[in-house]
Amino acid sequence: MSFDVAAARAQFPILQRRINGHPLIYLDSGASAQKPRAVIDAMSGAMEGSYANVHRGLHTLANETTDAYERARESVRRFVNAAEVNEIVFTKGATEAINLVASSFGKRLTAGDEIIVSQMEHHANIVPWHFLRAAKGVVLRFTPVLENGALDMDAYRALLGPRTRMVAVTHMSNVLGTVNPVAEIIQAAHAAGVPVLLDGCQAIVHMPVDVQALDADFYVFSGHKLYGPTGIGVLYGKRDRLLDLPPYQGGGEMIRTVTEEAITYAEPPHRFEAGTPAIIEAIGLGAAIEWLETLDRGAIVAHEAGLLDRVTERLDGVNWIKVIGQAPGKGAIFAFNMQGAHAHDVAQILDRYGVAVRAGTHCAEPLLRRFGATSSVRASFALYNSLEEADAFVDALHKAQTFFA
Ligand SMILES: Cc1ncc(COP(=O)(O)O)c(C=O)c1O
Repeated sequence: MSFDVAAARAQFPILQRRINGHPLIYLDSGASAQKPRAVIDAMSGAMEGSYANVHRGLHTLANETTDAYERARESVRRFVNAAEVNEIVFTKGATEAINLVASSFGKRLTAGDEIIVSQMEHHANIVPWHFLRAAKGVVLRFTPVLENGALDMDAYRALLGPRTRMVAVTHMSNVLGTVNPVAEIIQAAHAAGVPVLLDGCQAIVHMPVDVQALDADFYVFSGHKLYGPTGIGVLYGKRDRLLDLPPYQGGGEMIRTVTEEAITYAEPPHRFEAGTPAIIEAIGLGAAIEWLETLDRGAIVAHEAGLLDRVTERLDGVNWIKVIGQAPGKGAIFAFNMQGAHAHDVAQILDRYGVAVRAGTHCAEPLLRRFGATSSVRASFALYNSLEEADAFVDALHKAQTFFA
């Protein structure tokens, strides 16, 4: 198989849109990706053809919907190569998945216990741990980021100590594009008897992920960045790790028995899925994964790297662009600042040319502070972006620069 970008683009109805008289060039997929026809059809098909609440019913529609929901869980299992389907917990998103682990795992932590994160984390992988700092006196240790955007692995190893209880780091930075050496991070943590949570929000989109090969204890991601819908995300947890976690939220579905005096809990994953889940959204995520499985992911990796290379080469030596993040092997995210211009103004001018990019802190304030910036512009590429779009983005940047020169 090889990757046919035109055929892939044809699957995304929204790419027909024009913005301010120009064809849409969507370079904000790192925030949320567009949806292929397969996802749209699976979700509306479920609502039109077979819908009821899951797990509790004895009628045909309830059984069909339960099957579809559980099939989606199996698709996720296959996609990340988890050993068992019960290791896949559906959440509202990556943010909720991290909050779940921090809250449940954190119940047993005491003052002085340490959590290692990194300076390049999204706030979703900082704030839930900060809650433990405020509530329990848990200490947060931030692994520094080197000038080129790579993680300082020597510093990381030095941070691992007798009080470390968890390492929680991103697999791929949503600003720098850095792909962290997660296998090495996990090996070092495990050698110290410490479990590892990987934030796979960005990585899962751009590279095949095998949680068993990585030996990750927890792996989280959101559906909406993976060409699926909002409102659905995944917490993968090794069976023993999930069994060891107390419940996160209480309600229907997560119990085995309830009496006036006591409760016993269901096994994972249901223990962590209190209440009616995001049924249609889970089906949509399953459809996104099944659609991705029809494509050659290796070829997509190469295609996206080609887009980043094109932009990087064309802007090489341009003295009015400062790129943030140049670690070797980085993924298809291009964050930068334009000399003399605020990132918000750059984004608004690019929008006049139909180019959608993100500007701001990208929910990564410690990272931007590390690079002496208060904001930046971010172009993030997806499988549906073409080389022509990469060129049009650079052309639009040149035009934008004339506003500030
Ligand atoms: C690396 C990373 N982690 C976590 C998140 C949070 O994802 P969500 O808002 O879907 O929960 C994002 C979203 O931008 C992200 O890029």
